[in-house]
Amino acid sequence: MAVREILTVPDPRLKLVSKPVEGVDDALRALMDDMVETMYDANGIGLAAIQVGVDKRVIVMDLSDDRNDPKFFVNPVITPLTEDAKPYQEGCLSVPDVFDDVDRPIEVKVEYLDYDGERREEIATDLFAVCIQHEMDHLEGIVFIDYLSRLKRERAVKKVQKLVRARAATV
Ligand code: NI
Repeated sequence: MAVREILTVPDPRLKLVSKPVEGVDDALRALMDDMVETMYDANGIGLAAIQVGVDKRVIVMDLSDDRNDPKFFVNPVITPLTEDAKPYQEGCLSVPDVFDDVDRPIEVKVEYLDYDGERREEIATDLFAVCIQHEMDHLEGIVFIDYLSRLKRERAVKKVQKLVRARAATV
């Protein structure tokens, strides 16, 4: 397992639409293991493959308090189960240090293949619903700041670029 570099905005790869995975094999599991390690290293709760530069429809997530219950979503499909939406203050490892409210449906159905390639279906509510919809957006080339006003988005991108430059200067 290895920690991979996380792409940050405005990297054009974050705009790519990720491609379906043909099957869950050892190579894909190695990618998913790296993604989990990368997510833990960055203190995140979710990560999409495109955030480490791989345009495959793969998401990892861990919403547990002890950070020891990773979940894997391959070729996920989500269906909103309600029109009720609620704002939640979101952040993203590709937009470090920026947080803002995004409205999303509060309950969705998630269908996906798991780490072993088994087909699964779950109902997501609360933080799980927010997180899976945020990560699904990454698979479509959408980052949460795309929902904000142009002014806020431009300000966020500038802040991230400054942060990335500062980090590069310290190593
Ligand atoms: Ni994100």
